Amino acid sequence: MSEGPLLQVAGLTLTVPSPRGPVAVVDRVGFVIGRGETLGLLGESGCGKTLTALSLLRLLPPAVHLAAGSVRFDGVDLAALPERQLRRYRGKRVAMVFQDPAAALNPVLRVGAQVEEVLEVHRRLSGAQRRREVARLFGDVGLAEPERSARRYPHELSGGQRQRVLIAMALAGEPELVVADEPTASLDVTVQAQILELFRELRQRRGLSLLWIGHDLGVAASLCDRVTILYAGRVAETGALARVFRQPLHPYTQGLLAAMPLLERRAPPKGIPGRVPPPAELPEGCRFRDRCPAAFADCASEPALIPAPLGSPGQAAACWLHATRPGAAT
Ligand SMILES: Nc1ncnc2c1ncn2[C@@H]1O[C@H](COP(=O)(O)OP(=O)(O)OP(=O)(O)O)[C@@H](O)[C@H]1O
Ligand SMILES: [Mg+2]
Repeated sequence: MSEGPLLQVAGLTLTVPSPRGPVAVVDRVGFVIGRGETLGLLGESGCGKTLTALSLLRLLPPAVHLAAGSVRFDGVDLAALPERQLRRYRGKRVAMVFQDPAAALNPVLRVGAQVEEVLEVHRRLSGAQRRREVARLFGDVGLAEPERSARRYPHELSGGQRQRVLIAMALAGEPELVVADEPTASLDVTVQAQILELFRELRQRRGLSLLWIGHDLGVAASLCDRVTILYAGRVAETGALARVFRQPLHPYTQGLLAAMPLLERRAPPKGIPGRVPPPAELPEGCRFRDRCPAAFADCASEPALIPAPLGSPGQAAACWLHATRPGAAT
C-alpha cells in the first residue's frame, strides 16, 4: 500500500467523434478520494458523471476515447496499465454498482450463482466456501433468509432486493473503493432510504472508500464527506460537503442548492433556467455563462479551478467571481 490518497484522478479528458473532429465530453477533470472517504460526484444529467466513473476502470463505451489524464489508484496509474493488469483491479480492488439492478443481473441465473462467479474469479474459493460466503454477504447487505434468497432468480426479487444483490456482488471481491452510480435512482423513496443506510453502514463496517455519483444533493448531503460538482464535463466546484453546501461559491452550485426541495423552506425551490449544453455546442469561455445570473464580461474566457480566497480550505471554484487576476483591482 502506498502513502497518500486512495484515488487521484487528474486531467481526465474523454472525447467522442463528431463531424468536426473529437469533442470533449469530460474535460480535464480531477478529484481525490482519501482512504475511507466518500466523495460525491454531482451535477445535472449529461454533465459526464457516468463516463467519468466508467473511465476509472476503462469500461467506456466504444465511441468514447480516453484522450488524456491519469487515474492513480493506490499509487498506480490505471489509465496507463495494460488490459491484463487492469483486470486485477476490476471488481477486485475497485467495484461498481450501477443504477439499474435489473439490467446488471443475468435473468437466467440464480442470484447466488452470480455472486459465486465473482468469488470464483477473485478469491478462488471452493464450492462449499463460496456458498457460505454468499450467504454471509447476503446477510451483510440485509437480504432476509440469505440461503433462500441465493436460490432465487432476479425476477423473483423486488427492485430493492436486486440492488442489495448487486451490492453483495460488488463487495464479493473485498474492494477498497466502491463506485456507486445513482444506485438508488430506480427505487422508490423508502427503499432508497434503506439502501442509503446500508451504504453508510457498510462504509463504516468495512472502511470502504466510496465514489457516490448522483444528481440528488439531499442524498449526497446524508452520505458524502466531500463533493465535486461537474458542469458540462468540467469541475465547477469542489470542497468539503458542509462548506460547499453552506457557502457555495460557484453560481451553478448555488443554483443546484436553490433547486433542492427543503421542508423548512417557505418559497418553492427554483430550478436553474435552461439546460446543460451538448458537448459540441459549448459557449466560449465559462460553459455556465449562458445560464448564470451573475455572468459578466470576464466570463468570455474560461476560468480555471482555483482555491477561492474567500472559500474555506480545500474549497475551489472555476468562476471569475472568485478569482483574482494578476493586476486586477481587488
Ligand atoms: N456512448 C456515447 N457516445 C457519445 N456520447 C456519449 C456517449 N455516452 C455519453 N455521451 C455524452 O457524454 C456526455 C456525458 O454523459 P454521461 O452519461 O457521463 O452524463 P451523466 O452526468 O452521467 O448524466 P445522467 O445524470 O443523465 O446519468 C453527454 O453529453 C452524453 O450525451
Ligand atoms: Mg449517468
